[in-house]
Amino acid sequence: MNIAIIGTGYVGLVTGTCFAEVGHSVICVDCDEAKVKLLQGGGIPIFEPGLEEMVKKNVAEGRLNFTASTAEGVEKSDVIFIAVPTPPLEDGAVDLSYIERVARDIANAMTSYKVVVDKSTVPVKTGEKVAETIKRYCKADCEFDVISNPEFLREGFAVEDLMNPDRIVVGTTSEKPKAAMREIYEPFNAPIIFTDINSAELIKHAANSFLAMKISYINAVAAICEATGANVEEVATGIGMDERIGRRFLNASLGFGGSCFPKDLSAFIRISDDLGYDFGLLKKVQEINAEQMDRFLKKITDTLWILKDKTIGVLGLAFKQNTDDVRMSPAIEVCQRLLKEGATLRVHDPKAMEKAKELLPAEGVTYVDDMDSVAEGCDALVVATEWPEFKELNLAKTRDAMTAPLLFDGRNLFDPAEMEQLGFTYKSIGR
Ligand SMILES: NC(=O)c1ccc[n+]([C@@H]2O[C@H](COP(=O)([O-])OP(=O)(O)OC[C@H]3O[C@@H](n4cnc5c(N)ncnc54)[C@H](O)[C@@H]3O)[C@@H](O)[C@H]2O)c1
Repeated sequence: MNIAIIGTGYVGLVTGTCFAEVGHSVICVDCDEAKVKLLQGGGIPIFEPGLEEMVKKNVAEGRLNFTASTAEGVEKSDVIFIAVPTPPLEDGAVDLSYIERVARDIANAMTSYKVVVDKSTVPVKTGEKVAETIKRYCKADCEFDVISNPEFLREGFAVEDLMNPDRIVVGTTSEKPKAAMREIYEPFNAPIIFTDINSAELIKHAANSFLAMKISYINAVAAICEATGANVEEVATGIGMDERIGRRFLNASLGFGGSCFPKDLSAFIRISDDLGYDFGLLKKVQEINAEQMDRFLKKITDTLWILKDKTIGVLGLAFKQNTDDVRMSPAIEVCQRLLKEGATLRVHDPKAMEKAKELLPAEGVTYVDDMDSVAEGCDALVVATEWPEFKELNLAKTRDAMTAPLLFDGRNLFDPAEMEQLGFTYKSIGR
């Protein structure tokens, strides 16, 4: 199948590469010319495990190409996937201007039948608007179908998830696009669920909101554990072994972040409000998440008292492990709030330091390449991202390098008893 992907970011680049990997001919389009040049020259703009090798292989074998021209992408393809941003507006609604722009660009370039697939996360009924827009702006007399195919990949595991999806959701009731999607996804051996387009769009927002709810739920339970001396990990295991609940997404932490959960949750609340339903449950999920960050920071200020002129080490800047993505990262929020209180920071992240520099002020932050040196001269150390390598931290060296061995673990990476034995004052979440 000849496929165009419009928007070559975390979703578009990985999706396009995986489609090429299974034999499709893919052209990835992006309006960011510098990004396209980088990709054409063999560079990779994001970090995702396994991605670089797969991009190189498929480019070398001629199945994966890059262009800054949407017209070229449309001309060379039968199926066009839209994977552009859908960022939040101030009031929580979704900024759909990127989607509308692409719909117009596709319409202007279209001269024959195309299947236009929305992979971006969009509010229910966006597909109808995209179809109206293409119809309005298309000068050629050609047919098209607009369908929805939401993406469920996890950053940090995107290649793995795309190559082994647990399900493919396709929102369309027309036979022609159904056949195209069957052909595209056939090599992935996953069940395809066909729904109407509105249901497919809703599935994505409902799924992400549910996952966010699970995180806030366990964080609320963690607060109860802290008040009673119970251990949230034992509680999570005890409830998670119930197949109706499941253990995943029941890790207490300083809260969820990233480019998807916060915005998708706000969007779903806003969509529901607009439809006349007050989704109070999800508002509470948001509230618990904000409180969780406050509670974590309070532990630091309650212990250190005054942060002004204190030096604090921060391990982790990415919003989660295995990614360089710092958009809406709780770790970045921790840094910003500690800086605001007058602390200076020594920070480390295995992959996200360059991207963090765009969000953190130049003054007051030292980027440290070696994680074992972060704690040097620090009054406290904070674990803000659950990178597995942080578990290998040289704890004896870290303890001895600090003015006082004080560790705030926002990801429950270490064992409280062991930390105490090593001489740390150790504060984690719900334990
Ligand atoms: N990142 C994730 O984990 C994830 C997972 C599932 C769904 N999604 C959804 O997928 C969509 C894309 O997310 P992302 O994280 O890949 O975003 P991203 O910011 O990483 O990438 C989007 C790309 O689109 C390009 N772009 C913007 N306007 C364009 C235009 N008019 N023509 C061509 N290119 C254009 C940008 O330059 C950028 O490279 C969003 O709706 C997001 O909610 C993201």
